[in-house]
Amino acid sequence: MSELRPLGKEYIFTSAHFNTVKSLLYQFAGIKLAESKDAMVYSRLVRRIRALKLPGFSDYFDYLQANESEHQEFINALTTNQTAFFREPHHFEVLKRHLQAHPQTKRIWCAASSTGEEPYSIAMVVAEHFGRFNTPIEIIASDIDSAVLKKAQLGIYPIERIETVSDERKKMFFQRGKGAQLGNVRVVPELRQMLQFTRINLVDNFWSIKTPIDIIFCRNVMIYFDKATQESILKHMMLSLAEDGLYIAGHSENFNMFPQIITPVGQTTYKAVKGSVSAKTEY
Ligand SMILES: C[S@@+](CC[C@H](N)C(=O)[O-])C[C@H]1O[C@@H](n2cnc3c(N)ncnc32)[C@H](O)[C@@H]1O
Repeated sequence: MSELRPLGKEYIFTSAHFNTVKSLLYQFAGIKLAESKDAMVYSRLVRRIRALKLPGFSDYFDYLQANESEHQEFINALTTNQTAFFREPHHFEVLKRHLQAHPQTKRIWCAASSTGEEPYSIAMVVAEHFGRFNTPIEIIASDIDSAVLKKAQLGIYPIERIETVSDERKKMFFQRGKGAQLGNVRVVPELRQMLQFTRINLVDNFWSIKTPIDIIFCRNVMIYFDKATQESILKHMMLSLAEDGLYIAGHSENFNMFPQIITPVGQTTYKAVKGSVSAKTEY
């Protein structure tokens, strides 16, 4: 990487600036930024620099240091939030089968829920299983990014986002927008009420979530963490998992390097290694 690279016309962005961003994002969110992400970092952060009317990146870092409230904006600007309804559909079949086999299921956690498509997909399967919206299952949706959590809570999406959702589910779970909301759909309020939204940073030592958890969906977020961070999160999650609980990972995530913690039971589906760690009591 060159020493001084004006990637955009507006602000000077150097290797030192990029390295500062890398180490701050690692410190705040555990996210390891690849070297190739420099253009992405520039374009996302100039929006903050412009909004704050600051002269450049160094001034932005000073501002970040002086204002703790900017930490969240910094995180929100740099997370990648790609998601979809019923993404990796086989996992929703796993959920359905688990609900059938474990009538005592109480709690499902969607640990990197982004804009809500994933936890609403979970809620649809749960509602279908019970044949009603009012179920005994708590579904907790969390993310580190406060902006995506707000979007998720609204439950409003461009209609194209539900193109791959079956007609039956469209009818049952979505309302078409009118007037200013034309072209959007909204999840029905009963589905929204099935979810609890909360901000959880997975690299924090304490998570404000009740345990035991029967199923943890933690998909497509571990890829951003290094091995040590993954290991510590996995250990914490296995401690939170119910005896027969499942951990569901994303398609490109593989935990074969942690055989002492977690063992595969299907395609990107895992359970805790017996005798390692399992939470049996509520706290
Ligand atoms: C690519 S999205 C995956 C969304 C969804 N799980 C899916 O598979 O469709 C990754 C999400 O992880 C969240 N994330 C990144 N670092 C996090 C952390 N330290 N704690 C909690 N969430 C984090 C991001 O904000 C983002 O919404």
